[in-house]
Amino acid sequence: MSASLVTVAYIGAIILFILSLGGLSNPETSRRGNLYGIIGMTIAVLATVFGPRVTLAGIPWIVAAMVIGGSVGLYAARVVKMTQMPELVALMHSLVGLAACLVGFASYIDTSIAYTGVEKTIHEIEIYIGILIGAVTFSGSVIAFGKLSGKIGGKPLLLPARHWINLAGLLLVIWFGREFINAPTISDGMLPLVIMTVIALLFGIHMVMAIGGADMPVVVSMLNSYSGWAAAATGFMLSNDLLIVTGALVGSSGAILSYIMCRAMNRHFLSVIAGGFGTGGGTVVAPADGQPAGEVTPISAQETAELLKDAKSVIIVPGYGMAVAQAQHTVFEITKLLREKGVNVRFGIHPVAGRMPGHMNVLLAEAKVPYDIVMEMDELNDDFPTTDVSMVIGANDIVNPGAEDDPNSPIAGMPVLQVWKSRTSIVMKRSMASGYAGVDNPLFYKENNRMLFGDAKKMLDEVLVALKA
Ligand code: TAP
Repeated sequence: MSASLVTVAYIGAIILFILSLGGLSNPETSRRGNLYGIIGMTIAVLATVFGPRVTLAGIPWIVAAMVIGGSVGLYAARVVKMTQMPELVALMHSLVGLAACLVGFASYIDTSIAYTGVEKTIHEIEIYIGILIGAVTFSGSVIAFGKLSGKIGGKPLLLPARHWINLAGLLLVIWFGREFINAPTISDGMLPLVIMTVIALLFGIHMVMAIGGADMPVVVSMLNSYSGWAAAATGFMLSNDLLIVTGALVGSSGAILSYIMCRAMNRHFLSVIAGGFGTGGGTVVAPADGQPAGEVTPISAQETAELLKDAKSVIIVPGYGMAVAQAQHTVFEITKLLREKGVNVRFGIHPVAGRMPGHMNVLLAEAKVPYDIVMEMDELNDDFPTTDVSMVIGANDIVNPGAEDDPNSPIAGMPVLQVWKSRTSIVMKRSMASGYAGVDNPLFYKENNRMLFGDAKKMLDEVLVALKA
């Protein structure tokens, strides 16, 4: 395949990637978006493999690597549970970071293209920055994976003078960068490059270790952004325009997602980017002792069904527990039944409900809940005072009034769905245990709140039977 044909294929792939991102921004077009992405990636891989930069002898190696990588990816995609998605994503980000490091070292020792003068300096800066971002992404993502999968504790590790340690690391990286660029030979440049890589790896570990468990969602999307920039840096090293554009798309969309999530959790974007995030006293996760702080009023499935039958408007707020119980299909059945009876049923989705962005939207779409009744938090929060019943299914932090009323709460300032303003709220969960942030929820003790204790799927099945009766 000639170089110009490869360029045309790359432009086609870039357009498809942009269309893919556009499609993924809306549940209705997300399937199409995914398809555009798959076609774009297939074109990109084929154009690269059959392009002028790959020799015939290299093809078996590439095919073997693709078969191994593809099989691992296929296996992981099949066995991973929806609730484990964030840790899988973190693990995949680490691979992008590792790839950027390996490509960086390979392109430094590769002498097949002889760079001279300014070009040589630019190429070395690309390598240095590429390995720097790649190493931070790699080690940071491995720690994020450990924290999300519970292999590493969620508590933030706060070293004394940690900001000074980070600053010293940054100054050392700049100093070794100068040494690297000024090194007369490859072997002279290798030492500063390796030392910088070690510093960057330690920085990545330190940065994510310092972040509390409750703040991990933002870190995952931030590492997503870093992995994009690592890929873009790899594109610069390899002079591959497609990789530069694709990396920039991932980097900037990850940054936008981080920003949206920061807003949803009331965090400052810049402090996240600086890495010193989640270390203020407020973000330390309180122990999940689940000690009741008042009287709660339990309710049965039968009584829940009665309340729903008598309601004119119902808002359903799903959370992590709905995903655990896989209750979305029963939720859909109940929704259908109520709508047939003329009840106005809507869903209130919090931006960080569940354990990954869009978690609830994916589950509801899978259960075929119509998109037009699935609303964002901001679209719906003013409607609670005129709502008869709010049904909270396995959600906790995202409906915690303490976020608004208690300035000392670890989640103070996080916008929440104001279900307590509706005439009656029903919270469906198994016990009085706290949610992800480990804080008690004053909603449970409100006069107009009822607790339907039990597994969400089991309880909803009972509600459905009672509704049909
Ligand atoms: P949580 O606050 O984690 O609450 C979920 C509740 O579901 C728990 O209190 C649990 O209570 C209940 N539950 C668990 N299994 C259940 C089952 N089988 N049946 C019924 N209930 C069950 O969830 P949320 O309200 O969705 O809030 C999300 C939290 O996760 C936020 O703090 C957010 O910051 C964080 N987070 C979000 C993300 C993203 S990107 N969405 C990623 C990581 C973390 P019981 O044990 O008593 O049943």
